[in-house]
Amino acid sequence: MGNLSFLVASLGCLLPSLSHANPLDKRAVVDTCLSTAKVPVFTSGSGDYNQAIKPFNNRVTFKPAAYAVPQTIQQVQDAVKCGSSNGVTVTAKSGGHSYGSHGLGGEDGHLIVDMRNFNSVTVDQAAFTANIGPGGRLGNVATALYNQGKQAISHGTCPGVGVGGLTLHGGYGLSSRGRGLTLDNVLEATVVLANSTVVTASTTQNSDLFWALRGAGAAFGVVTNFKFKTYTAPENNIVFQYGVNPSSASSLATMLTALQDFTINSQPDNLNMRLFLASQTTLSGVYYGSRSDFDKVMAPLLSKMGLSGGQISTNTWLNTLSNFAYGPLQQAVPYDTHETFFSKSLMPDYLSPAAITALSNYWNANARYNSRAWYLLFDCHGGNSSAVSKVATDATSYAHRNATFKMQFYDRTYNGNYDPSWMSFLNGWVKSVTDAMPTVNFGMYINYADTSLSKEDAHKHYWKDNYQRLSDIKAVYDPKKVFEGPQLVGS
Ligand SMILES: Cc1cc2nc3c(=O)[nH]c(=O)nc-3n(C[C@H](O)[C@H](O)[C@H](O)COP(=O)(O)OP(=O)(O)OC[C@H]3O[C@@H](n4cnc5c(N)ncnc54)[C@H](O)[C@@H]3O)c2cc1C
Ligand SMILES: *[C@@H]1O[C@H](CO)[C@@H](O)[C@H](O)[C@H]1NC(C)=O
Ligand SMILES: *[C@@H]1O[C@H](CO)[C@@H](O)[C@H](O)[C@H]1NC(C)=O
Ligand SMILES: *[C@@H]1O[C@H](CO)[C@@H](O)[C@H](O)[C@H]1NC(C)=O
Repeated sequence: MGNLSFLVASLGCLLPSLSHANPLDKRAVVDTCLSTAKVPVFTSGSGDYNQAIKPFNNRVTFKPAAYAVPQTIQQVQDAVKCGSSNGVTVTAKSGGHSYGSHGLGGEDGHLIVDMRNFNSVTVDQAAFTANIGPGGRLGNVATALYNQGKQAISHGTCPGVGVGGLTLHGGYGLSSRGRGLTLDNVLEATVVLANSTVVTASTTQNSDLFWALRGAGAAFGVVTNFKFKTYTAPENNIVFQYGVNPSSASSLATMLTALQDFTINSQPDNLNMRLFLASQTTLSGVYYGSRSDFDKVMAPLLSKMGLSGGQISTNTWLNTLSNFAYGPLQQAVPYDTHETFFSKSLMPDYLSPAAITALSNYWNANARYNSRAWYLLFDCHGGNSSAVSKVATDATSYAHRNATFKMQFYDRTYNGNYDPSWMSFLNGWVKSVTDAMPTVNFGMYINYADTSLSKEDAHKHYWKDNYQRLSDIKAVYDPKKVFEGPQLVGS
């Protein structure tokens, strides 16, 4: 906001000031505007409002200036107009699962446009396409796709996550190595822009906007619909889980080295998996193929990691999803699941031996006997067979195509508040890795938003070499910064 304040000051009062000293002062005028335009709202202090502003991450709470719950595209347009004409920043919210509560603005004083009513799923079974509302939650969407001709898309594992945020910033899950990220399967998006017009974005219409939406969408508009490419849901899938027991730092380092080498050189595109390092460590995933082929593919890795046994079963598509959902696919209304946590990410192309040693030593010294419910997840994201990595790094604004692992560091508490002093645990772990490879600009994933990053660091790590082009497109589509947040693309 620093640059904008300067601009506003230097131009007198030609631009509405979005950097108002206390944006909550604008509550009354925005509410009046929404009410005049007949946009449905949750009134501040009502039960619906109090429920809606409870974020997934209890650690990170914010107070909106106003809370719109539109039912039509016209009402989305009117809500955007009410925000921009009154100098109040507008934020779309879909599933509310941002780790930094970016769906609530990531700071106080935003006008929230809650997309919960835009949740329909309509499949064109012959064309293998589906129109999917951003407000749908993954479990409901997967079920609806399956119920219309047994179709599917590639998406994340947690059934409560919203399609909106997941798709606009990535979307990695149990089909991604064969089917790409969720955003790779978007054919078209309908978007309400900052000037409240509605446009279609695709490879042939507003293609620069379409590029920006696929990796950095929150800063560019409010998406009201996605058209996706679908495929026939695979059945008879091998779901597996092995117990992993690293006995020392060097034993963990050996396992990680083997896993990284396997992911880069040998992991086929029909094998999706992740190492979940925690007090109970596991290697789990899905193989789309026969049991005998699975055994053949896994044998060299299991031998190098010293793993055997495992729980291995054959599953239908919906059971495959349920295995990783840790609960039913259909989501309760209102949604009311929360955790209290701090999280960080790294998207390394490659972890050098020194980085693996540092990571493993830190685990042994600081994590292994830490009794909080922390975990470090290594998704086997890239490598030479992954559909994610086959797309060029500048083909969409998602900057992490060549990342071998998608690493998520997560530390939570089940007893009250998260003490801010605990953040040093994960900050130190990430630093141990980045310090070991000082010349590398590590990628980080905004869908695992890290609230400890400054705006500049967020831009540098979330979007890497794609940032400059994003910033240029932002200047065209949202010159007045109607859609802003502490870590979103600026201009
Ligand atoms: C339990 C859990 C499991 C997860 N599992 C996975 C996983 O397997 N794979 C993976 O890739 N990620 C995963 N994530 C991360 C998830 O992808 C992100 O948190 C995602 O941003 C959530 O989207 P949302 O719509 O629920 O969140 P929100 O908080 O509503 O939105 C997130 C961001 O997107 C913007 N946004 C939302 N809707 C729109 C819209 N319609 N138009 C424009 N901008 C919009 C918001 O303004 C905000 O900046 C998981 C998260 C959680 C909490
Ligand atoms: C991946 O690399 C390995 C060796 O580095 C090679 O044998 C294999 O054929 C490659 N696979 C693909 C799909 O390029
Ligand atoms: C991709 O990552 C590999 C390591 O897995 C590295 O050797 C290669 O240089 C990277 N490619 C690009 C284009 O960054
Ligand atoms: C709205 O913004 C878009 C993108 O910058 C622009 O193409 C369009 O002309 C604008 N519409 C109006 C009515 O100003």
